[in-house]
Amino acid sequence: MGIVRQLRQISADDSGVDPAFRADVHAGLAQRQKAIPARWFYDATGSALFEDITALPEYYPTRSETDLLTRHAADMAAAIGPGRAVVELGSGSSTKTPLLLQAIGPAAYVPVDISGDFLRDSATALAARFPGLPVYPVEADFTHKVDLPREIAERPKLGFFPGSTIGNMVARTAIDLLRGWRATLGDGALLLIGVDRIKDIATLERAYDDPAGVTAAFNLNLLERINRELGGTIPVDNFTHRAVWNDVHARIEMHLVAACDMEFTVDGRAYAMAKGETIHSENSHKYGPRDANLLLRAGGWTPVRTWDDADPAFALILAAATEFRSAP
Ligand code: AVI
Repeated sequence: MGIVRQLRQISADDSGVDPAFRADVHAGLAQRQKAIPARWFYDATGSALFEDITALPEYYPTRSETDLLTRHAADMAAAIGPGRAVVELGSGSSTKTPLLLQAIGPAAYVPVDISGDFLRDSATALAARFPGLPVYPVEADFTHKVDLPREIAERPKLGFFPGSTIGNMVARTAIDLLRGWRATLGDGALLLIGVDRIKDIATLERAYDDPAGVTAAFNLNLLERINRELGGTIPVDNFTHRAVWNDVHARIEMHLVAACDMEFTVDGRAYAMAKGETIHSENSHKYGPRDANLLLRAGGWTPVRTWDDADPAFALILAAATEFRSAP
């Protein structure tokens, strides 16, 4: 059984609510185009709904990425080499991780996730499955600076960021994040990152608006979370889910659409929405090969290998921490 230790780096106010959630909701509802950051989808209900999404026939990214990890495991292992500490950013339920760990023979595994319950369960399951592999879970928001466990300080690192979560950030934020990890993971680090490709609009929109309504429930849970945690009075039944391709930004946008004029309060603060007005709740950017490489370079990572022959298209890119030297 691997070592399981818990580090906590998340804050909560006296009511147990993350103050950043409260601040983001009020700031987002006060804007002309209302918007709430997608990272607040992932309370216990949202995390469970996301797991359901990954099993949907229409949601191809999980299938395509798993297919790449399975078919190219030996090739990836040769490119990565053994003995690295694998740091998984936003590990969730870590379903794809065993494929990677099995292939590369790492020295330690550090899952980092904001959702403590998921983290604990999946870290325990992984430690049981890989006896002898030290597992050091870190409960933290990977979009902020993460303190890695002392035990892996001397190990070369492999950052693992599957699932195309990088696509949920606008380019500037994605680059800041990549640069942060470049600093955290250090010289000699590698990064294996999942990136979803641009493809036909029907396939993309179906993946984010499934007929079973699971993605709609995932989106609407954000409003229910506001009501639950911030004492909101949002009439959730008066909202519908919308997923639409934005070609200018090369992204799927998810919105919560007001079906009628309404007024509600959050924390006692009053808000109004007109029929048809939306709360923008998620961006999911898609990248062509050159776009993805440019993004990584801007973030301080040099792409070294790409595996992207899945159908529907998806890419796993291996990048090396760029050595800093003066231009050109
Ligand atoms: C977590 N993330 C990569 C998912 C995506 O595809 O952008 C979140 C998601 N939203 C709706 N369906 C899945």
